[in-house]
Formats: sequence, structure tokens, C-alpha cells
Amino acid sequence: MELSGVIMNFSILSFRFARTASLFQCKVPKYFCTCSTLRKEVPKNLKGKSKSSQEWLIRQMKDPYVEKARMSNYRCRSAFKLLEMNDKYNFLAAGQCVVDCGAAPGSWTQISVEKTNSLGSRRNEAIGRVIGIDCLSIYPIEGAILLNNMDFTSKEAQEKLLGHLQGQKVDVVLSDMAPNATGLKFMDHEKIIYLAYNVLRFSVQVSVVEGTMLVKIWDGQEADVLRKDIKRYYNNVKIVKPNASRSDSSEKYILARDFKGLGT
Ligand SMILES: C[S@@+](CC[C@H](N)C(=O)[O-])C[C@H]1O[C@@H](n2cnc3c(N)ncnc32)[C@H](O)[C@@H]1O
Repeated sequence: MELSGVIMNFSILSFRFARTASLFQCKVPKYFCTCSTLRKEVPKNLKGKSKSSQEWLIRQMKDPYVEKARMSNYRCRSAFKLLEMNDKYNFLAAGQCVVDCGAAPGSWTQISVEKTNSLGSRRNEAIGRVIGIDCLSIYPIEGAILLNNMDFTSKEAQEKLLGHLQGQKVDVVLSDMAPNATGLKFMDHEKIIYLAYNVLRFSVQVSVVEGTMLVKIWDGQEADVLRKDIKRYYNNVKIVKPNASRSDSSEKYILARDFKGLGT
């Protein structure tokens, strides 16, 4: 399949999401990231805080992954989702080129730097490359190129990414991107599916044959259509729910391996 054909397909696939496209603009820094703090202090005064803030603080305190992340120097508990999925499916390796979409605060990028050896700290192994992008700012991570304050879906971000890649093919595209949740399930679902289609379009353009894409979604009615669309480009597609992903969350990951390539 040629690239122009693929882009056309994606235009059709994305059409249904276009009507709400204006909602998908990444306005920051409204995003309330559950990873924003790893402190385990007992909140001194919950009074005056909204019910949801109180619940969030209490949940953080009880969460074993929050403590584990702090002990392991990861910037956020999401680290354990990626570690768990990689332990099982082993898609990250030294020497690879990885693009991490929705990288802030940076734990997936930290793991990608370790696994790909992008710092060159393991002398007898190949040296990889890691590029992280987020619409928020990310504190520097040694061994990674970080594109801050950039909406992944924007033309500018796509051009910047391609500019950094300079024709190099990508082994693994990761996306833990999550839009600002409105609380309206169907709308939040559409927003994340829109992001996922953008990740798929990017992955198809830049991936090596046999490459991997890992993308987060919130479950809902479009999930199956997305999975089927991904199957057109990847031979091996799985839905994964790591233990570190809260059981009361509709969060899931689509792990797509063995990219078929676009042929000639
Ligand atoms: C759950 S956090 C990612 C956590 C990250 N994997 C880590 O381990 O540190 C989701 C991120 O997606 C980012 N995001 C959401 N929409 C985005 C977009 N359109 N472009 C870039 N980043 C986006 C948010 O700013 C947020 O930082």
C-alpha cells in the first residue's frame, strides 16, 4: 500500500472524529496528571479541598506504585505499566529508536533511555535514540530529545518530529497520551481515540517493518473499530491491561507488533 493511499484511508477513518476536533486542541496546563506528585506525605488538612481532590490524595497515599516509583527514581507510577508490558512482551531493546508521545512528566522516557541504551552507558551494547513529546514541559532527561509544549496532533509537532528523525525509521512508538478528561465518558473516549488515530498515522509513516506501536485508549464503542484499523497495518495486535493500571479505570493499551510496512 502506498503512503498516499494510507493517508487517504486515515482521512476517511478520522472523519467521524473531525466534528469534535476543536475539542482536541491541547490546552495546557489544565491536565490534571495523576503522576504529578510522588510525595507520600499525609495531607495535613483535607478541609476546604474538593471531594475529588481529597479522594485523589488518599488514593495516592494508599497506592503502592506511587511509593515504588519514588524509590526507583521514576517520575511517575505509570513507569510500572510500561515495565510490566515490556517484561511480558519484550519490545524495547538496546539500539532502538523510540518516540514517546505524551511523555510528561517522563517516566516512560526514563525507561526508554535505559532500555535502548541511548546514553551509551552499556558499552558493549548498541546505542539507541529516544524522542519524547508533550504539550506540557518536561524536565530534561539525559539521553532523550524532548519536544516540550507541543501538541502531537499539530502540523508543527509532526514536522519537528520528522525533522529530528531525519529519515531514521522508528522501532517503537509509545503513546500514553491522555486528553484533558471532561468526565463525560463518550466525549473523553472520542478524544483519546482521536489521539490514537494520530499516533497510528504517525507510526505508519515512520516505523520500521516489524516495528511496534503501543497506544493508550479509554475503552468505549470506537475501541474495536480502532483495533481493526490497526490490524490492517500490524500482524500482531493485542489489548493489554497491566496490573499497575487501576482496575476502576477504563484505561487499556493496544500493543501492535510486527508492522507490515507500506510496501512499494
Ligand atoms: C498519563 S500522562 C503520560 C505519563 C507518561 N507516560 C509518563 O510516564 O511520565 C499523559 C500525557 O499526555 C499528554 N498529552 C495529552 N494530549 C496531548 C497532545 N495532543 N500532544 C502531546 N501530549 C499530549 C499530557 O500533557 C500528559 O502529560
